[in-house]
Amino acid sequence: MNVHDSEQLAAIMTEAGFERTEDVNQAQVILVNTCSIREKVAQKIISQIGRYRQLKENNPDLVIGVGGCLAQHWGPSLLKKNVGVDLVFGTHALDKAPEMIRRVQKRGGAIVDTAFRAGITSLNIRPRPTNGNLQAFVTIMQGCDNFCSYCVVPNLRGKEESRPSQDIINEIKVLVAHGIKEVTLLGQNVNSYGKGLGGGIRFSDLIKSIDSIDGLERIRFTTSHPKDLTDDLINRFGKLGKLCEYIHLPFQAGSNSILERMNRGYTREDYLARVERLREVCPDIAVSSDAMVGFPGETTADFEATLEMMEIIRFDNLFSFKYSEREGTKAVSLDQKVPEKEKSRRLNLLQELQDRHTLERNKAMVGRTVGVLVEGISKNSSKDMMGRTRTNKIVNFRGSEKLHGKIVNMHITAAYLHSLRGELS
Ligand code: 5AD
Ligand code: SF4
Repeated sequence: MNVHDSEQLAAIMTEAGFERTEDVNQAQVILVNTCSIREKVAQKIISQIGRYRQLKENNPDLVIGVGGCLAQHWGPSLLKKNVGVDLVFGTHALDKAPEMIRRVQKRGGAIVDTAFRAGITSLNIRPRPTNGNLQAFVTIMQGCDNFCSYCVVPNLRGKEESRPSQDIINEIKVLVAHGIKEVTLLGQNVNSYGKGLGGGIRFSDLIKSIDSIDGLERIRFTTSHPKDLTDDLINRFGKLGKLCEYIHLPFQAGSNSILERMNRGYTREDYLARVERLREVCPDIAVSSDAMVGFPGETTADFEATLEMMEIIRFDNLFSFKYSEREGTKAVSLDQKVPEKEKSRRLNLLQELQDRHTLERNKAMVGRTVGVLVEGISKNSSKDMMGRTRTNKIVNFRGSEKLHGKIVNMHITAAYLHSLRGELS
């Protein structure tokens, strides 16, 4: 999400007539886009801005702006940190950055804008030259109404708001005209898309419309919430030709009491039933997830319930985190905190188990022939090319650069933890 915001911001700046420089010493404006989903970034960002401030000694007109989640969180208090910031723009003010920079350049003084706005002004169509990229992110909704007890997103990104479907479709058509073959529909909670738009459009309807865009090859989306994973969406898998057989579906924890304390809105049984249904409809689907260890009150038995769920589901991939406290969230007031050392122990066990499962799932691909979208030269060897399966697995293979952008049939010959090996067939 945040990487995409940075791309959007860069596009907004270019459109407004600013030019990008690779040399920070040449810059007239430095914008730092921040994220707060991971811990311990705050101090790093403050030190980084402090280093940029030193550039003002030789370049007194330099404007330093800070945007994104942490800017939203800190607001005007960031100015008091005395690190030379001229502009603080929140998550709903991305598109206002150029105008605010010009105001600072003209009049001096600092500006702060962290208002939440309706209308998703920051997300209007922005056709971008894509430099041979095959994949693009397309934001379809922003914000979140769920208030999971550990999460800062609803505080920092505001209420859920869906973008009109025609805007999304138009943007994708423009992207396809620029050579994009694969889109990832992006939002904090994509499968509650449509809420508040009127007209009863659901996420599954949006995907169906996108599926008919000529020239587009693949559709992915992230992130979906298990409680909103309705049958109409599940039933699209395996039926719509462009919808990839892949879903990222965070489960967070395997114990019902922890899920309740997290305010996730589903039980372990609900989650298992959803995955079972997905696999019934689309046996080849790859499932990845997010999980957390050491949430307040997580006993050894609760943690084991998480491992057990992994054993039942066998995810293709898992992003795992030690729970960390976020200011302004409900979980801060929960008791029975888990010691840091115990969190690390649990995380290690969980990651070891996941590595086994990832390898097992990858090995199950050996001997099969699958479609691979060729993305470019392999990172491992300049003699090899790399591409991705519809199930989001990386495949390295011997082949020509001319295959870039093509979907080729690949016979999978070997499997590793992070990639597959294949031969053109
Ligand atoms: N502590 C640890 N992990 C968190 N995540 C979100 N908030 C926290 C937190 N306070 C993880 C969740 C989420 C992923 C994007 O980040 O697993 O799905
Ligand atoms: Fe955060 Fe929960 Fe919303 Fe995801 S669904 S963004 S974890 S509050």
